[in-house]
Amino acid sequence: MEPLKELFLAAFTLSIVFLTILWYKLASHKKESRLPPGPRGLPIVGFLQFLPTNLHHQLTKLSQQYGPIYKFWLGSKLCVVLNSPSLAKEVVCDQDSVLANHDPPIAGLVDIGFSPCGSYWREVRKLFLREMLSNRNLEACYSLRRHKVRKTIRNVHTKIGNPVDIGELAFLAEINVVISIIFGSKFVENMEKCSKDGTEFRELVVKYGQVMGKPNISDFFPVLDLQGIQKVMGKPNISDFHPAISECVKMLSDRREGEIQRNEKKHLIQILLELMEQKDIVKIKAILVDIVIGGTDTTITTVEWVMSELLNNPEIMSKVQQESKHVVGMNNIVEESHLPNMHYLDVVLKETLRLHPALPLLLPKRPSQSAIVGGYKIPEGTKVFLNVYAIHRDPQVWESPLEFQPERFLSPSTNLDYAGNNMKYIPFGSGRRICAGIPLAEKMLMFIFASLLHSFDWKLPEGENVDISEEFGLALKKSERLLVILTPSLPNLKLYQ
Ligand code: HEM
Repeated sequence: MEPLKELFLAAFTLSIVFLTILWYKLASHKKESRLPPGPRGLPIVGFLQFLPTNLHHQLTKLSQQYGPIYKFWLGSKLCVVLNSPSLAKEVVCDQDSVLANHDPPIAGLVDIGFSPCGSYWREVRKLFLREMLSNRNLEACYSLRRHKVRKTIRNVHTKIGNPVDIGELAFLAEINVVISIIFGSKFVENMEKCSKDGTEFRELVVKYGQVMGKPNISDFFPVLDLQGIQKVMGKPNISDFHPAISECVKMLSDRREGEIQRNEKKHLIQILLELMEQKDIVKIKAILVDIVIGGTDTTITTVEWVMSELLNNPEIMSKVQQESKHVVGMNNIVEESHLPNMHYLDVVLKETLRLHPALPLLLPKRPSQSAIVGGYKIPEGTKVFLNVYAIHRDPQVWESPLEFQPERFLSPSTNLDYAGNNMKYIPFGSGRRICAGIPLAEKMLMFIFASLLHSFDWKLPEGENVDISEEFGLALKKSERLLVILTPSLPNLKLYQ
C-alpha cells in the first residue's frame, strides 16, 4: 500500500506544479494581451478636457490613482503613460528600437525631434552631433560663446538698479550661439544688423514652442483644427520667422555659397542646399526651427527656473557665489576652464532640472509595432508619454522630492549625470533619442550662471515673491516672466570690456 500512496502523492504534487505553471502562463498571457488600466473618459472626446491645462500635472495625479502604467483616450487616440524608472528602462533600453519613434503633433512637421528613426532622421542627427556639437566644433566655437556671455554681462551692467528680464538676457546669448553653430558667426552679424534687439524673435520662439508642445485637438481628430495650429505651422513661412533665417534661405537659393563660412558646418548647409534643390522648403524650415527652438526654448526656461530657485533659497545662491569667487577669484572673470571646478553650481543645475524638467513628458513616443510594456499590450501607433515629471518627484524614488536640495547630487553614491543611464533622473531623455544638444546646453548654462552670479548680487523687486506656477508647452515654462534687480558684486567690472 505504501508505494501506491507515495505514487499518488508524487502524482498529486506534480499536477499541482503543472496546474500552477499553467495558471501563471494563462494569467500572464491574458495580461499581456490586455491594455493597461485607466480612466474611461467620456465617449468620443475621451480626456480632451485635459488639453487647456497643465497636462503633466493631470497625468501625474492619475498615476497616483492608476499606478505606474495606465492608458487614457484623447479623442480617437490611445495614450499610455509610464511613470516609473523600471518602465522607463523597458522603453528606452530594452525596447528602444521599437519605441524610439516620436509621435509628431500636427505642428511637428518633418524635423529632427519628430522624424521617424529612418534614414532621414539618422542623417540629420548624425550630422548635427558629429559636425556641430562635436567637442572639436564646440571648442572651435568657444570664443563666440565667451564673446556672447561677456556681451550679456556688459548689457546687464547697464541695467543696474532696474528690473531685468532674466530669460530675455539668457535668450539673447543662447540664440546667437545656437545660430552661429549652425550657420557660422557671419550669420549672427547679419542677424544683429537686421534685428532690433531680438525681443520680437523671442516671442516667435515662445509661440512656436507652445504650438509644437501643446497637444492639439487636430492631433486626435485630424479633421478638426480648432486651435488653428495647422495654419500656424503648415505653411512654409520661414520668412516671417526671422530675418536671418529668411536671409539663409535666400542665400541658399541664390547659391551664394561663397558667403557661407568655410568650416565644419558645411555639411548641414549642403543638406539644406539639396533640400532647396528639391524645393523642400518645409523640411528646411523644420530643421531650422527645430534646432533653434529646441535649443533655445529649453535652455532659457531652465535659466529662469534656476534663478527662481536661487531667489527662493538665498543661502544656496550665496554658496554658488562663494564658490565662483573662490574658483575664479575677485580680480578675474569667468572662463570656461573654470567651470569643471564649480561643483556646487553643477548640482544646483541638476537639482533644478530634476524639479523642473524642461520637457516634463519628453517628446511622446510611438511604437513602430505592437509592444509589451510592464506586462501590458501597447498597440502600434499608441502615443506613449514617459512622465519624467512624475519620476523626478516620486517619493519612492527621491527623499523629500518636493524640496530643492542640490546637496542630494553631491553624494558619490548618487552619481547621476545627464547621460540617461539611471532612469530615476532623465531630464534630457535617454536611449537613441536622447537630447542631441546636451554638451552645448551644459556648457551654456554653466557659463551664463557662473558669470551672472560671480559679477552681481540678485534679488527680487521690493514687495515681490517668486512666482513658481508653470505653463505647459514644448518646454515647461514659468507662467510669469522673472524680473530681478541686481547690484554689482565684482570690484572690477571693466574686465568685461
Ligand atoms: C536645458 C537645455 C535642454 C534640455 C533640458 C533638453 C531636453 C531635451 C529632451 C528631453 C529631448 C527629448 C528626448 C526624448 O524624447 O527622449 C530633447 C531632444 C532634442 N534636443 Fe534638447 N534639450 C536642451 C537643449 C538643447 C540644445 C542646446 C540643443 C541644440 C542646439 C538641443 C537639441 C535637441 C534635438 C535636436 C533633439 C531631438 C533629438 C532626437 O529626437 O533625435 N537641445 N532635448
